[in-house]
Amino acid sequence: MSAFGSVFMPEMAISWFDGSAWSEPEMVASDSIQLHPGAHVLHYSSTCFEGLKAFRHEDGSIKIFRIDRNMARFVQSSQLLALPEIDPAVTTRMITDSVAHFAAEVPAPPGSMYIRPTHFGTEPAIGKAAAPSMTSCQYILLSPVGDYFAGGDACLRLLIDDQGMRCAPHNGMIKSGGNYASALRPIMEARAKYQADQVLFCPDGDVQETGAANFLLIDGDEIITKALDESFLHGVTRESILTIARDLGMTVTERQLSVEELLERASKPGCEAALSGTAAVLAPVGTLIYNGKEIAVGSGKVGETTVKLRQTLNDIQWGKTEDRHGWLTNVEL
Ligand SMILES: Cc1ncc(COP(=O)(O)O)c(C=O)c1O
Repeated sequence: MSAFGSVFMPEMAISWFDGSAWSEPEMVASDSIQLHPGAHVLHYSSTCFEGLKAFRHEDGSIKIFRIDRNMARFVQSSQLLALPEIDPAVTTRMITDSVAHFAAEVPAPPGSMYIRPTHFGTEPAIGKAAAPSMTSCQYILLSPVGDYFAGGDACLRLLIDDQGMRCAPHNGMIKSGGNYASALRPIMEARAKYQADQVLFCPDGDVQETGAANFLLIDGDEIITKALDESFLHGVTRESILTIARDLGMTVTERQLSVEELLERASKPGCEAALSGTAAVLAPVGTLIYNGKEIAVGSGKVGETTVKLRQTLNDIQWGKTEDRHGWLTNVEL
């Protein structure tokens, strides 16, 4: 099977902002972008993106999960990066039209069509280190993806980093390339030194998130996770899992969690931890690595609450249970 996100549909919807107006969206070859080498994005990282999924239901219909939340975050990322304003209704249309165009290619569950809207500054201006790009481009790239857990439900190993941070704290809730670039070196070091899968960034001992997912601690009937602030990405999966947990009668506590409390709770039998994100939905964490020591989370294996929460969310996405919260958008075929 191909690696997640390495297969693309041959065409994509695109629209350009020329400084005063957006062009009418059109379908073009996915490898047809022409950029000036002085484009703002290539020098000053004026770029943001989104990640969401379309699912094929048994009746043949195609549904997109929580497109409104992803659009709200896309608009917010664009604003916070001082990129030209985007109209979420137009981007939504570009997404639904592209997915409809490639409806036949949307894999059946557990696969899906991963959707990657991207917005970046195109102005050829290398003197604008401290000024925004006046022109930009947005496109919708589609990538069919398979079963994330095809290799089995392996539990992740996380290195706890209580010194560094994933990105500049005022940029945390922007889904921007620069934030991933700034997290890459610590993640590579954690892999090489500790065979860790990911780094759990805990600046000043405050448990935050990993390089590409939110962190949830599941202690019995309670889920504890950091309360929203501008220092980390507000995951749509996080919000959805917390809603499902409340529906299931669990207690959801959004507050600061210290590394000390995390380690104390994690080592109790029955405790679970998981990473939430669009790609995996909910991936179990089996081991925390801190100060050179390995601490198993609960049994160190995938826990039953993690599986139940993930299954419930998958069932909604796959049309196997009622979409009580109106999270699915139908794609007109
Ligand atoms: C840094 C980071 N945090 C959290 C998430 C989870 O966000 P979502 O659930 O919207 O995919 C992502 C996912 O892309 C991410 O990159």
